This record gives sequence, structure tokens and C-alpha cells, in this order.
Amino acid sequence: MEIISNPTQDEIKKAARALKDGHLVAFPTETVYGLGADATNEKAVSRIYSVKARPTDHPLIVHISSINQLDNWATDIPEYAIKLAKEFWPGPMTLILKRSDLAKNFITGGQNNVGVRVPSHSVALELLSEFEKLGGLGIAAPSANRFGAVSPTYSRAVVEEVGMYLTQEDLILDGGKSMVGVESTIIDCTSETPTVLRPGAITILMVIEVANRISHLPAASTNVRTSGLLESHYAPNTKVILGEKPEAGDGFIALANLPTPVGVIRLASPIDTEQFAQDLYEALRVGDKKGVNRIVIAQPSGPGLAEAIRDRISRAASI
Ligand code: TXA
Ligand code: MG
Repeated sequence: MEIISNPTQDEIKKAARALKDGHLVAFPTETVYGLGADATNEKAVSRIYSVKARPTDHPLIVHISSINQLDNWATDIPEYAIKLAKEFWPGPMTLILKRSDLAKNFITGGQNNVGVRVPSHSVALELLSEFEKLGGLGIAAPSANRFGAVSPTYSRAVVEEVGMYLTQEDLILDGGKSMVGVESTIIDCTSETPTVLRPGAITILMVIEVANRISHLPAASTNVRTSGLLESHYAPNTKVILGEKPEAGDGFIALANLPTPVGVIRLASPIDTEQFAQDLYEALRVGDKKGVNRIVIAQPSGPGLAEAIRDRISRAASI
């Protein structure tokens, strides 16, 4: 496996070729790093599942370069979904739509719906467009971590998560730290009203404003299968504790205005919600590396992105 930092156009072409040849390419997006495969190549896609140790009935998001490619993968697209796509793509939003014939069971986990997203990161977009020039139609990519673990937000984290399972021909593209830091907002657009299945940087208010309607259901009441909605997910090895005072030997993640008690190891001091999202997963990884007793997190309050952060933290704490 080769790691390519700040890839040139030629190196991105090489990565697109590797995908077309059935290899895996991990690449940066604005949310987290993805582990990509040609979304029409069953063998390549099956490697994603084995590298991640992910159950095969958990569907994958298909990444495309623009809204123009959407019809390849989805049919019966509601008007409001088009509005959302026009407004927020490229960006941290995944739409769940009725699948086309191209979206096979090995992508959708056997469901009749497919998740599609246009990421907003120059390396991801160039990779997608080079891939399409070679006749590619979409890149299937889950977060590039082992199943249930913390998503990688920088290339070294990809190496730590899945490096040992990649082959010589697989590639990792390094495009710096992911700017958003938590996974995309997932919106189920298969009924008359959009449903936010996983909160993210495209907030529920933003969706309401554009789609003019919304429902935000707790995971239990939807029959769409989303592994990010499992109770325990995004979890480091160290125990994560919420809403308690950290004690000596604990790691601590909190907004900068909260002080660090004596003997506590500060893992992150973000100055605002955006930075909290950016730094959260790295801080969880650092906590594991430092061998802190527990990772104590003071959650950010409020709506919007803070809601996405709380969602991930509560799953990391598995409560
Ligand atoms: O920000 C992101 O969405 C990142 C980057 C790489 O794009 N990707 C990501 O993929 O987080 P993953 O597989 O780690 O999480 C996607 C979630 C999974 O929980 C999956 O079950 C759900 O989206 N999902 C994908 N396709 C779906 C579908 N057709 N129906 C329901 N849920 C779906
Ligand atoms: Mg994931």
C-alpha cells in the first residue's frame, strides 16, 4: 500500500486507474476519510467489507462527482431531494433514494434504496472526475476505519485503522485533515417527507429551509438499516464517559473555556462547535494512544452541528 501526500493530477489519475483495476483507494473527504472501491465491481466492493470487518448487510454510500450522475444510481427522485442536492452538493450530505438497476445488492445491503453523496474536497472531486473519465460511474466508500471504530480524519489514522489489511496495489491519498470532522448528514428521501437518519454538518434547520418539510425520527422507528445508527459505534478502545468530572489519569475533551483539573490529560480544547467536530475523533485516538484511564467528554450544547457531535459521542460512550 502506497501513501501519496498532496497528490498531483498525475497521481490522482493513477489512483483512478487503480480503482478501475479493482483495487482500493482511501481518499480524503471534507467529513472523514473514505475507503473507496469501484461501486460497480462486486469483487472490489467485497474487499471493503473484509478490510473493515463490516457485516455485508450494511449498505455503502456511492460517491459521484456531481448531481448530473445521480440518475445513474437513483430513480423516482422527489423534487425536494433535487432541491437539497442543488443546495448542498458538493457537501456533507448523503441522500437515500430509490435505487436504479445499477445499484446492486452488494452496494445496498439488499435494500431497495441507495445512498449517494457528492463530497466537497478537491482531492475527492478530482479522483471522481478522473475515475469517470475512465468510464467509472461511482466510488463506493464507507469511512476508512474498522467496523465500529472511530472514523479517520487524517491519513495516518487510515493507516492505523486499515493499513495492515491493504495490499501492495491499494493506495491512500493524503489530503490533510478533514475540515468537518464528523460524517455526512444522512437524509432518507424515499417518502414524501425527508427524514434525517444521521445528523451532521448539514443541519436539520438547513434541510427544513430548503425542503420545506422534515421529520426527524429516532433511529428505532425507521426500518432503513444504517450502521452508524447502531448504539455502539465510533468508539475508541478506552471507556468514554459523559457528564462527569474528570479525575486524575483521565483524558478530557471539552470546549476551551472549561479548565483542566489537576492530573487530568487534556485531549482537546476546541474554541467552538466547528472545531469540536474537527478535533473530536483525533482526540479519541490520542486518548487511546496515551493510555488514559477513561475519556471524559463535556458535550457541546445547542442545535445544529452540536447535535451531530452529541450523537457521535453518545454512541462512542454506547449509552
Ligand atoms: O461522511 C460520510 O458519509 C463518509 C464519507 C467517506 O463520505 N462515509 C461514511 O460511510 O460515513 P459509512 O459507511 O461509514 O457510514 C454510512 C452510513 C452507514 O451507517 C450505512 O449503513 C448508511 O450510511 N447507508 C448507506 N447507504 C444506505 C442506504 N441505502 N440506506 C440506509 N442507510 C445507508
Ligand atoms: Mg463509518
